[in-house]
Amino acid sequence: MKYIDIRSDTVTQPTDAMRQAMFDAVVGDDVYDEDTTVKELERKAAELTGKEAALFVPSGTFGNQLALFTHCNRGDEVILGEDCHIVVHEVGASSVIAGVQLRTVSSRKGVLDPCEVKSRIRSGKEDIHYPSTGLVCLENAHSNGRVIPLEIMKEIYEAAHEKSIPVHLDGARLFNASEYLKVSPCEVTKYADSVMFCLSKGLCAPVGSILASTKDFIAVAKKKRKLMGGGLRQAGFLAAAGIVALDSMRGELKKDHENAYFMAQRLSDLKNVSVNIEDVHINMVFFKINLPLNPAEVVEHFLMKGIKINPPENGVYRFVTNYWVSREDVNFIVDTLSSFLSSRR
Ligand SMILES: Cc1ncc(COP(=O)(O)O)c(C=O)c1O
Repeated sequence: MKYIDIRSDTVTQPTDAMRQAMFDAVVGDDVYDEDTTVKELERKAAELTGKEAALFVPSGTFGNQLALFTHCNRGDEVILGEDCHIVVHEVGASSVIAGVQLRTVSSRKGVLDPCEVKSRIRSGKEDIHYPSTGLVCLENAHSNGRVIPLEIMKEIYEAAHEKSIPVHLDGARLFNASEYLKVSPCEVTKYADSVMFCLSKGLCAPVGSILASTKDFIAVAKKKRKLMGGGLRQAGFLAAAGIVALDSMRGELKKDHENAYFMAQRLSDLKNVSVNIEDVHINMVFFKINLPLNPAEVVEHFLMKGIKINPPENGVYRFVTNYWVSREDVNFIVDTLSSFLSSRR
């Protein structure tokens, strides 16, 4: 059975063009620096992000953690939003790999207060008890489905730089952010010293992310990537799909955003469903069902109709559109929920 899968944009299958590119890929041992396809992907990634160099890494989590590991010394403090991916969904890796302490600041729907970030930065010299701040992290687009305004990024970047602290951007969905803002990716990444973005989400590549920054930073990160077990051999097979992702899939994200917005509009018409349409910036729709339902039953009902959804997290459902979800599918998804809710009233 072919399912409509709206659990995440990470579930996307590679396109036919990616499968062909993987089949045809010229590969070599990338640990020996001999994989020309990986090099080509890294060159394109650096160019797109406006950085000097880029590094192919196995996953977004790997790229973020490698950034922390490269920017910071053990015992440093990293300032970031309380609800960001690095804090909530990376298994506490920062304390294991980089050996850093995460100092969270409050987040208003993913937006950090530049003054609060500034006030948390410490040189470590003020008091013998204080750790030193090693890094500030931002996330855009945020995993709550919203895009952070560039003015906020700029203010935080300038505040951090005033105190000589670098900024890392978790741009897992960088191209969704630039699509929403209608700016080039460079306009977003210019407020970060390093950026991670994923090839494997809405862009449909099967595996892989990129860490981009200065040449010197990437040289250090490359050695640490090896230490972390991320030195991949004939990775050109994966990079080949990544190149297709960058060359031909970025333009497809607009359709995903439109479908998500359309889904949110239709959901908002349903009785007992609350959705904040103004929070739908990219391909994610978050909503609540105001009925006492058993989440497992909802998931099962959708599955029986050929739709894969995740159970709600803290009472909130998240439906994610992607390249393989059409407008017709969106209508079917909303109709399925509508008839299910009608049967429960
Ligand atoms: C904002 C954000 N950062 C990082 C990641 C981690 O990416 P990966 O699943 O490839 O480790 C995700 C994954 O969904 C994400 O949403």
